[in-house]
Amino acid sequence: MSIHSEDSRRVTTQRLLEMKQRKEKISMLTAYDFTMGNIVDQAGVDIILVGDSASNVMCGNITTLPITLDQMIFLAKSVVRGVKRALVVIDMPFGSYQGNSKEALASAIRIMKETHGDCLKVEGGEEIIESVKRILSAGIPVMGHLGLMPQSINKYGSYTVRAKENTEAEKLISDAHLLEETGCFAIVLEKIPAKLAQQVASELTIPVIGIGAGGGVDGQVLVLHDMIGLTQDFSPRFLRRYANLQSIMNEAIEHYVEDVKSGDFPSEKEQY
Ligand code: KIV
Repeated sequence: MSIHSEDSRRVTTQRLLEMKQRKEKISMLTAYDFTMGNIVDQAGVDIILVGDSASNVMCGNITTLPITLDQMIFLAKSVVRGVKRALVVIDMPFGSYQGNSKEALASAIRIMKETHGDCLKVEGGEEIIESVKRILSAGIPVMGHLGLMPQSINKYGSYTVRAKENTEAEKLISDAHLLEETGCFAIVLEKIPAKLAQQVASELTIPVIGIGAGGGVDGQVLVLHDMIGLTQDFSPRFLRRYANLQSIMNEAIEHYVEDVKSGDFPSEKEQY
């Protein structure tokens, strides 16, 4: 059992703030279905993200753009059923909140009503601030996401480290402050220089969770399927693989096929 799971009180946005204040690091992982949500929760992870990375990991798309609101709702509903302790954050998919704050609120309300999740995450700063304000005005907690924003991949052209240049770094800092002032409860910083991420985390009072943003932030997030080695073709420098479940699964499935072919399975004991 994880040391953190001994504290079985439900994680709330307020508790995350207190964790930052007492310098306790926050753990966050993705999950996209009931079983994984349940396993991740029982291991004591503080925040479970139903990420739109489901577009890649679960649906086999090249980017996060194609996943729809209906698909995110289906996945999030399943995750929520498996979680007792962690805070469940759900990504608003591309096209469901940009450009029109009324539509953003309608999408947000659908997600909250239909999934029973706790909070939403959106990518962007100043450009989407009207949507963030409107969603917050309905009492829905919002997590920001800056740095590498996969929903903007067609603008960047590649998944390289963001905000290495001053202009982009300055905009990121000002967007982070804007999101905090507007009322976001936390921010994810993806794939930016560690020094910049540390600066943002020290300037903000809300928790800053990093992915590829170094150790100077308030917590870390990884994509579950990458960190347990279910996926193997994605190996950025920031990814630590804690297991190689792909090879364990391959071995088990090959063994099963052999047993079926040879007639070894089922045995006398495995039938009625
Ligand atoms: O969708 C996702 O998995 C994410 C994380 C990478 C933070 O946004």
